[in-house]
Amino acid sequence: TQAEPLVLSRRSDSGKVQILTLNRPKALNALSTPLFDVLNVELEKADADPEVRAIVLTGGDKVFAAGADIKEMKDKTFSEAYSTNFLGSWAKLATIKKPIVGAVAGYALGGGCELALMTDILVASEKATFGQPEITLGIIPGGGGTQRLVKTIGKARAMDLTLTNRKITGKEAYDWGLAARLVPADQSVTEEAVKIAEGIAGFGALAAQAGKEAVNAAGELPLSEGLRFERRLFQALFATADQKEGMAAFAEKRKPTWKHE
Ligand code: HXC
Repeated sequence: TQAEPLVLSRRSDSGKVQILTLNRPKALNALSTPLFDVLNVELEKADADPEVRAIVLTGGDKVFAAGADIKEMKDKTFSEAYSTNFLGSWAKLATIKKPIVGAVAGYALGGGCELALMTDILVASEKATFGQPEITLGIIPGGGGTQRLVKTIGKARAMDLTLTNRKITGKEAYDWGLAARLVPADQSVTEEAVKIAEGIAGFGALAAQAGKEAVNAAGELPLSEGLRFERRLFQALFATADQKEGMAAFAEKRKPTWKHE
């Protein structure tokens, strides 16, 4: 019998949202290298497909991911890790142009928390558990956690998670600004994430791409450069059909029909 794919990929009913589900339930979706290879292929396919306007990344409604695969890592030597650039493939997700909505229920630990941090809009269940337990294994976060947590929730809280193995709930993650939306424990985070992604998919694709690019630039650029970058992108959108359509539709009191060009 064929092995179950490590990442399930399906299209939403509207055909505009690609839903990627981490699928190693028996290992609590531990993020192995083979799983990441499949995830990266699916992300690239979705990014390249003009029908797809937004992506949902979920672990399902029980667990997001309990971290990088400890059994895969445990015997690795430095030279193996270094020569293969171990975990380097995780960087792919941050290069995807289309908006990615993350949906976290259950554990988002270690690399799972870091993966969640790489999504653009994070939806958390009240019953989610976020944490960076790497210190309990004699390592530190390696998927961007130390850097992205500081930018997202500040140094004090990032240090607390990294050094004490403190776990926080979905509610705390929401209150701290790590998650953008909070979903009651009895509701599906995946369904909520798909709704949000469908909303984005209902707008012009170029504006969505530009909005994501501009917000992300804030993490990289000094303010004056970020403001210049934003203004240039803003001005550039006046060359698009969607800007003409969006503003004409407003003036004519009708719904816009986006051309995505
Ligand atoms: C490999 C894992 C795993 C992981 C769970 N499993 N987490 N396998 N890597 N990260 C496996 C278990 O070995 C077990 O397999 C099965 O999933 C179910 O897990 P249990 O431990 O039996 O479940 P439970 O008692 O409910 O405890 C849940 C848990 C615990 C608290 C989440 O599994 C746990 O502490 N996991 C490790 C969390 C962690 O330390 N994450 C950080 C990893 S380091 P078997 O075969 O026994 O049934 C990391 C570094 C990132 O992420 C670096 C850069 C990205």
